[in-house]
Amino acid sequence: MTEMNLEKARAACDTIVRQIRSLYVGDELLIRKLLAATLANGHVLFEDNPGLGKTLLAKTLAFSIDCKFSRVQCTPDLLPADIIGTKIWRPKDGSFQLLRGPVFTNILLVDEINRSPPKTQSAVLEVMEERQVTIEGETYRCEAPFFVLATQNPIEYEGTYPLPEAQIDRFMLKLSTGYPRSLGEERLIVKRRIEWKKDDPTRDLKPVISADKFSALQTAVENGIYIDDVVIKYISEIVRSTREHPQVEVGSSPRGSLALLKASRALALMEERDFVTPDDIKTLAVDALAHRLILKVEDVMRQVDERKIIEKILEDVEVPKDYRQR
Ligand SMILES: Nc1ncnc2c1ncn2[C@@H]1O[C@H](COP(=O)(O)OP(=O)(O)OP(=O)(O)O)[C@@H](O)[C@H]1O
Ligand SMILES: [Mg+2]
Repeated sequence: MTEMNLEKARAACDTIVRQIRSLYVGDELLIRKLLAATLANGHVLFEDNPGLGKTLLAKTLAFSIDCKFSRVQCTPDLLPADIIGTKIWRPKDGSFQLLRGPVFTNILLVDEINRSPPKTQSAVLEVMEERQVTIEGETYRCEAPFFVLATQNPIEYEGTYPLPEAQIDRFMLKLSTGYPRSLGEERLIVKRRIEWKKDDPTRDLKPVISADKFSALQTAVENGIYIDDVVIKYISEIVRSTREHPQVEVGSSPRGSLALLKASRALALMEERDFVTPDDIKTLAVDALAHRLILKVEDVMRQVDERKIIEKILEDVEVPKDYRQR
């Protein structure tokens, strides 16, 4: 990639980040990670307590890109057909007609995914992996780009069906917005609400990037970013360590390595680099891997935090110093 292209790519990413920050109050790095995942065409799961801006953040990103966007509010009675669609019989024409569900879009926001029953969740997760849906035996490809932003409350909340581990694995990153970090942020949220004079400020948002340009950025991430062999080895060592850790029953799948590869290339592009550094991997490792670990029963009971395990692994695995930039 030429210098100019890199510079333009960074500028486009900065514009998206700036627009999100004009609504969402919080950590810029969190926003950058969210954008990195979507530039790498990855799905993101937000898990947090109620009212912490998850939906706001997901909607702001979705409305900032000039793509098709749809939203599914999950409830215990939601059926797979409510998401993927169905075929209905038209007696007038004597044929079946396809009624496309919200999944036929570019960005699918699945709000409170753990409130829908397992059968419906698996319909969503099928599309996430295959990027296609099968309705009454016929298969339809999803449009590109296609990614899912899902939100959920922690599983202890009543009336939820926890996502099975195998399905959580399909999210490139699992992020958490967290509580406002300071009194200043707390006040800023209230002050912005006064300014907006409405609850949903995303309604008036204008896209800051076209779908074509966004796709071009995704292509640049896929084709234009170099990753040296020693950095690949670093990823592999981190992922392998999750399988050897004494508190871990099942470590990260190779999908975890691929998530790290893809998201780190996007992060590099956002910083105007055409190569991945070990620091990119460090920045993303916890969010890309922690949700893939299954702890030993006794450690689940002791409420050991998977994120801490990844942090410890990052301390222990040697960081490569000499890596090529091309
Ligand atoms: N960090 C934040 N920055 C700006 N507004 C915020 C932030 N956190 C919460 N809000 C405001 O609080 C309200 C609730 O936010 P939102 O609906 O996004 O929460 P949520 O995390 O999706 O909650 P739930 O889990 O109940 O769906 C919204 O009006 C939103 O604008
Ligand atoms: Mg919400």
